[in-house]
Amino acid sequence: MTRFNGKMVIVTGGGGGIGGATCRRFAREGARVAVLDLDQAAAEKVVGSIRSEGGTAEAYRCDITDRASVDAAIAAAESRLGPADVLVNNAGWDVFLPFTKTVPAQWEKLIAINLVGALHMHHAVLPGMVARRSGRIVNISSDAARVGSSGEAVYAACKGGLVAFSKTIAREHARHGITVNVVCPGPTDTALFADYKQGVGNPEKLLEAFKRSIPLARIGQPEDLPGAILFFASEDAAYVTGQVLSVSGGLTMNG
Ligand SMILES: NC(=O)c1ccc[n+]([C@@H]2O[C@H](COP(=O)([O-])OP(=O)(O)OC[C@H]3O[C@@H](n4cnc5c(N)ncnc54)[C@H](O)[C@@H]3O)[C@@H](O)[C@H]2O)c1
Repeated sequence: MTRFNGKMVIVTGGGGGIGGATCRRFAREGARVAVLDLDQAAAEKVVGSIRSEGGTAEAYRCDITDRASVDAAIAAAESRLGPADVLVNNAGWDVFLPFTKTVPAQWEKLIAINLVGALHMHHAVLPGMVARRSGRIVNISSDAARVGSSGEAVYAACKGGLVAFSKTIAREHARHGITVNVVCPGPTDTALFADYKQGVGNPEKLLEAFKRSIPLARIGQPEDLPGAILFFASEDAAYVTGQVLSVSGGLTMNG
């Protein structure tokens, strides 16, 4: 399939579980992929696997909480791979504690990565998309934003903020030919989820509980997410904007 032939795609957190799977899928479908991550080695590894399959990708170290780092990574990526057609804001981080056990320094880090980071990315990429009168933005939120999640209060607040922000940007930029949509993963087997399991204290019991409550009876895999993300980024979604889609095995179908 070559839905994204000729398209330049930026993915933040592209060295991680969901981000890596998303980068590989975009590349398989013809895109030139800019893999942005705080963890340069992780980004390089994803680029290596894409190139080994004949795809085109470049790795850029980028801290999305730092505007200078964001501007530098986007400038380097666009000069090498061309102007961004698609932006996927996927980088994220969490600390798993009941809210009253958290401290303000943790809130600041959570907000910087999960909310302000995406604002920097939009602020840096949108002017070019507006000038070109086209663009696709897909923001990775969480089902914690839709239905809450114990031990993730501030993270959930950021992810809820990202949904509200996405809908507003979708309204502001529809007239420029830019769409903005949101994908909410449910529990997905990545490094972030491994931290969550540890935070809960009894990982095996938690896994069993999830399997019992997920209608499709398994934890998500990173490869479960790119289908929804690439749909929103594709021409098939040209008339879809400001929407939120859960990819959670049916865990959160009421809400
Ligand atoms: N795994 C889940 O269960 C789950 C559930 C709901 C939502 N999500 C969301 O999915 C997205 C991807 O998470 P994942 O599960 O693949 O986790 P992951 O830990 O595998 O990947 C996250 C990536 O983000 C990068 N990152 C962190 N801080 C950064 C920063 N300041 N600048 C740039 N990159 C940074 C990390 O280096 C990592 O590569 C996140 O937004 C996360 O909140 C995950």
